Amino acid sequence: MSIEKAYNSWADQYDTNNNKTRDLDALATIEVLSNYGFKNVLELGCGTGKNTHWLLNKAERILGLDFSSEMLNIAKEKITDGKVEFQKADLNQEWKVENQFADLVTSSLTLEHIHDLNHIFGQAFNKLKVNGLFFICELHPFKQYVGSKAKYESENGIEELTVFTHHISDYIENAERNNFELLEIKEWFDEKPKKDIPRLISFVFKKKN
Ligand SMILES: C[S@@+](CC[C@H](N)C(=O)[O-])C[C@H]1O[C@@H](n2cnc3c(N)ncnc32)[C@H](O)[C@@H]1O
Repeated sequence: MSIEKAYNSWADQYDTNNNKTRDLDALATIEVLSNYGFKNVLELGCGTGKNTHWLLNKAERILGLDFSSEMLNIAKEKITDGKVEFQKADLNQEWKVENQFADLVTSSLTLEHIHDLNHIFGQAFNKLKVNGLFFICELHPFKQYVGSKAKYESENGIEELTVFTHHISDYIENAERNNFELLEIKEWFDEKPKKDIPRLISFVFKKKN
């Protein structure tokens, strides 16, 4: 099944499934982005709007991109604030967003489904203002190395989605190649004190002049 179709089928249970990765990402996003100021946000793979909801506390405008109509339909039902717009878009194509629109580009649990990180960093660079921030929070590659991937339960059993492994060096190298500076990197664990393999990794990059 294509990634788009899989998310269309997962959409109605996405917010309510037992999903440690989704829940930890929500905490990580708040903890990291509480420390930064921003007005215009471009949210990549916004899904059902889990993070859009919190971003609204700080943002003046949010544009959420996603290629799953069913995930977007749920986001649109939940979030009717006039500051938010959702656009059906494939992130692997050119993004139909005004250049230098955003102070902040965010991507949570989405780049696992994208093969070409260079394209994503290149587009993010174009859509950010100078000194704009790119926040990424993804399944940690260490988890990917031991077989973790996005999956959900359907009437046909467990559906595993198509994923691509991105090593930590892949994020750093693609960021550097596209003129981003690394501001911070964090690993997120299921338990405190830190135990076992970290579930998530987050980065904040800054667009250079
Ligand atoms: C695991 S969900 C994450 C949703 C949300 N960011 C969150 O944290 O709950 C991944 C989202 O990325 C979207 N996605 C995956 N590949 C995409 C692509 N090539 N273009 C646009 N959206 C994509 C899916 O449709 C899905 O809504």
